[in-house]
Amino acid sequence: MRIGIIGGSGIYNLDGYDILDRRHILKTPWGEPSADYIIAGKDGLEFVFLARHGKNHDIPPHRIPYRANMWGFRLLEVDRIFAISAVGAVNPDLEVGDVVIPDQLLDMTRTRGQITYYEGKFTPDGEFEHPGKGKDRVYHALKEKKVVHIDVTEPFDPQGREIAFQVLSEGGLKVVPKGTYAAMEGPRLETAAEIRALRILGADLVGMTAVPEAFLARELEMCYTLITVVTNMAAGISPTKLTTEEVLQVSSSRKQRIIDLIYEIAKRLPEDLPLECGEALKGTVM
Ligand code: HPA
Repeated sequence: MRIGIIGGSGIYNLDGYDILDRRHILKTPWGEPSADYIIAGKDGLEFVFLARHGKNHDIPPHRIPYRANMWGFRLLEVDRIFAISAVGAVNPDLEVGDVVIPDQLLDMTRTRGQITYYEGKFTPDGEFEHPGKGKDRVYHALKEKKVVHIDVTEPFDPQGREIAFQVLSEGGLKVVPKGTYAAMEGPRLETAAEIRALRILGADLVGMTAVPEAFLARELEMCYTLITVVTNMAAGISPTKLTTEEVLQVSSSRKQRIIDLIYEIAKRLPEDLPLECGEALKGTVM
C-alpha cells in the first residue's frame, strides 16, 4: 500500500520523512504533472508526495494539470490519497486555524467539472498501462475510449475521513469531521454576494482545487480524502481584506502537524479499499 499526499498552498515537501527517491514524470497522455513526485518512507510505510501548485508555487488553480497529476499517482502505485488544502470559511461558526474534513462537494466551477479521463472517442491515444493492482478496469475504459459516468454520491473516502478525524483529533488539532466544500474556479477570491449565495446553498468552506481533483481520483479508482485548513473567513464574513500572507501563514503552521500525523493515519488504514472508491468503475462504463 502506497499513500499519496497532495500538498496545497504552503506545503511543498515532506519534512520528517526519509526521502527515498524523486520521480520526474515527463509525459502522460494529459501532459506533465505539477512537480516531481517525492517518494518517502517512515517505519516501513511508503508515501508519494506532490506539490499541487508546483515546488515554487508557480501554478495557479485554473492551470494545474489535474489529470496529469492524478495519473502520476496511479503510475506510482498509489491507491489512497490524502490531499491538504487551504480554504476560506463560509460557515461563520468556523474559525481560522480549524481543520475540516469535508464530506460533501458543491461544484461551482464553470469549466472544471468537464475535466475527465473518459472522453469517449475524444480520449487521447496513449500509453494507459499502469501497475496498480486490479486496475484493469481503468486501462480498458481508456484503451477502448469508453464513456464513463462515475458515481460521486459520497465524493470522499469515508474510511480515510474517519481515521483522519480520529488521528488528527488525538493529535491535538481542532478538527471538524464534516462539511460541504464549494469549489470555485478562481484564481480570484469571491465577492461578498457569492459567499452569501454559497452559504444559502449549504456550503461551509470555499476553495479552488477539490474540483476536479476529487472526481479524477474516483475515476482512477483511488480513494481520496481531503483535509482542509481554514486560513481565512471568506469574503464579507471577514471584516478585513484577505491577504495571501494570511493564507500562507496559517496553512504552514498547521501543515507540519498534519503531515506528521498522516503517517499515523496510514498505519491505521485497513488493507482493503472501500468499494465506492476502490471499485468505482464497476457498472459505470457505457
Ligand atoms: N476563497 C477561495 N479559496 C480559498 C480561500 C477563499 O477565501 N481561502 C483559501 N483558499
